[in-house]
Amino acid sequence: MATQLSPYDQNDPPILLQSEDEQTTPAGDGIERLTVTLRVRRFNPELDAEPHWEDYTVTVLGTDRVLGALEQIKGEIDGSLTFRRSCAHGVCGSDAMRINGRNRLACKTLVKDCNPGSPILVEAIKGLPLEKDLVVNMEPFFAAYRDVLPFLITSGQEPTRERLQSQHDRDRFDDTTKCILCAACTTSCPVYWTDGQYFGPAAIVNAHRFIFDSRDDGAHQRLEILNEKEGVWRCRTTFNCTEACPRGIEVTKAIQEVKRALLFRRV
Ligand code: SF4
Ligand code: F3S
Ligand code: FES
Repeated sequence: MATQLSPYDQNDPPILLQSEDEQTTPAGDGIERLTVTLRVRRFNPELDAEPHWEDYTVTVLGTDRVLGALEQIKGEIDGSLTFRRSCAHGVCGSDAMRINGRNRLACKTLVKDCNPGSPILVEAIKGLPLEKDLVVNMEPFFAAYRDVLPFLITSGQEPTRERLQSQHDRDRFDDTTKCILCAACTTSCPVYWTDGQYFGPAAIVNAHRFIFDSRDDGAHQRLEILNEKEGVWRCRTTFNCTEACPRGIEVTKAIQEVKRALLFRRV
């Protein structure tokens, strides 16, 4: 069976892609097939007072992702099933959902890794208003992101060419540049679930990305914002965020670095 590695990020766990002819290869070709039940938490605000669970049984390839199984359900069983997706390769961050109780990107999660002998539980991420089925309103998440000024702030004369930076200085914030704003971290944080005011780890990660950038002059401004009562001090070092991040970002470590910068007033 020919497989290829995703070209998107060599640091990612490998994403196995299938060519079109492989997807149509008949049974008996040696490709593992699984018959699985996805138990999906459904909610239609026009019909339902409360969300409810529904089971769907599909046959997928051993290399299929949960996203592929959801697309199969939508295409072949129930077209009203609603979820977000775009790239299907772990890049756009639009398909974060809870799979067997853990925040994951559906397009990076193999069905066969989800204990397929039992129904696979699929539900919307927690802590954001549920709109329909697996879709939540992301606006509070992006509002917190905007609040931390996630862009380069500079003062003084503009350079005539690029703003130079040493490799050492670039390395300081390399990890947090990988964020794809999927919200898996923020919506796995128990503080965020219970306190809607907390900025949440994703906003802090994106503040970190600029606070520790030697070309940026807005660190003080951002640190003051994160020093507020809904800022970094709400974090209880639970590590759910680090565990949930599909990009492997050391989210809790980034939060700790921001706390330290606030304590010592030094970046
Ligand atoms: Fe997603 Fe990781 Fe960014 Fe959080 S830090 S939004 S989990 S990519
Ligand atoms: Fe929440 Fe992560 Fe802190 S899960 S409590 S932001 S370490
Ligand atoms: Fe883009 Fe999963 S669909 S990250």
